[in-house]
Amino acid sequence: MDILTIIEDKKQGRALTREQIDYFARGAADGSLPDYQLAALLMAIRLNGMDARETADLTEAMAQSGEMLSPDVGGVPVDKHSTGGVGDTTTLILAPLVAACGGKVLKMSGRGLGHTGGTIDKLESIPGMRVELPEEEFLSAVRSVGCAVVGQSANLAPADKRLYALRDVTATVDSVPLIASSILSKKFAGGARAIVLDVKTGSGALMDSLEGSIDLARAMVDIGFHAGRKIVAVVSGMEEPLGSHVGNALEVKEAIDVLSGRAAGPLLEVSLFLGAQMLYAAGIAENAQKGEEMMRAALESGAGLNKLEEMIAVQGGDSRICRDISLLPKAPLIVPVPAEKDGYLSHVNGTALGLAAQRMGAGRVKKEDIIDPAVGFVMEKRIGDYVKAGEIICTLHARDEASAREAEEKVRAALTFSENPANKARLLYALVTPEGVSHLSE
Ligand code: URA
Ligand code: CA
Repeated sequence: MDILTIIEDKKQGRALTREQIDYFARGAADGSLPDYQLAALLMAIRLNGMDARETADLTEAMAQSGEMLSPDVGGVPVDKHSTGGVGDTTTLILAPLVAACGGKVLKMSGRGLGHTGGTIDKLESIPGMRVELPEEEFLSAVRSVGCAVVGQSANLAPADKRLYALRDVTATVDSVPLIASSILSKKFAGGARAIVLDVKTGSGALMDSLEGSIDLARAMVDIGFHAGRKIVAVVSGMEEPLGSHVGNALEVKEAIDVLSGRAAGPLLEVSLFLGAQMLYAAGIAENAQKGEEMMRAALESGAGLNKLEEMIAVQGGDSRICRDISLLPKAPLIVPVPAEKDGYLSHVNGTALGLAAQRMGAGRVKKEDIIDPAVGFVMEKRIGDYVKAGEIICTLHARDEASAREAEEKVRAALTFSENPANKARLLYALVTPEGVSHLSE
């Protein structure tokens, strides 16, 4: 096997064999292939693409480049992955609800980077919560509670780690086979057998056009088909934050509000939709509609909130926060932001809102930055709402006056008001399964 032939084959647009792909992934993981040859091959893949079989092979090869969890959790291990959002706390809502319905949610999550939040950072705002569990403890938590959420272990898909870093500096991020295999290699290594993907579409998403997002969703569903894992993908909008709360402890609070029945809206609706697909994909519900009924029943009975409480306790956190949210970290300054004039909220720049929260301290600019769990903001209005001058559009939770002033400016700049009525933002666009694409209407 030699790398020059592999690069040449892909340069000429030929499909690579499983052996060639294994050689490439192994060489990326163990350092035997240099950056320049990996980069050349990545660009050839970016330009000439990969078919479904090659993409599935690359996914498996990258997954197998490091440790592979083969979990015995007393059921089908199910996971959910979102391709990035702001104010997107679905994991903290659907994992306990799915567990309450008998699912085994095995969730490895990332930290926030850039404008998007990370579930692990959110969980760390809970006093005492441990997100780095040894493998046996993680699996035992999933077995006993039905869900656990931990940080991604360092040796998961090392080939992807190296290739992703190279893609970042060689303009080869925007490739459907490379994105799809990158995301799923980590899920496969993490042991998931059933996977529900939430593929975001719109500005700030991996794919900004709906067609591009559906292509990415389809590529990932196809990988599942070739690799013998059940994968379904939902394409959803990310025009504005899904929930109203943006910030780590604030998003935990919002998840508890939803599980307690005190809050509803798009965050709950998308969580129920994704959770229903998880129950179906894991073979617990006979179809997604039954899955949704089970999810709603677990919400209404309080079983979901009980599961969150159990999960926090088993991971060492102060589970009393589920009944008393005042035990979560609080920001010293709470500053309402009033509307300056009457109008309809017509556009929200979600990426800019995410960056505003990051700047307040809720996210990192550099990898080693320390997060302030208490800060962020609560959006009081959504796209389509009519607002009168003086009405509160957003409430800031800030560390000090200066950061509150800066955040107010950034939040205002992220919102557009219009004199004409504006439609609500679209939440769900399409459902992609091995059977095909169905466009969703609302
Ligand atoms: N997230 C990943 O893990 N990989 C990509 O290529 C893009 C987003
Ligand atoms: Ca959204």
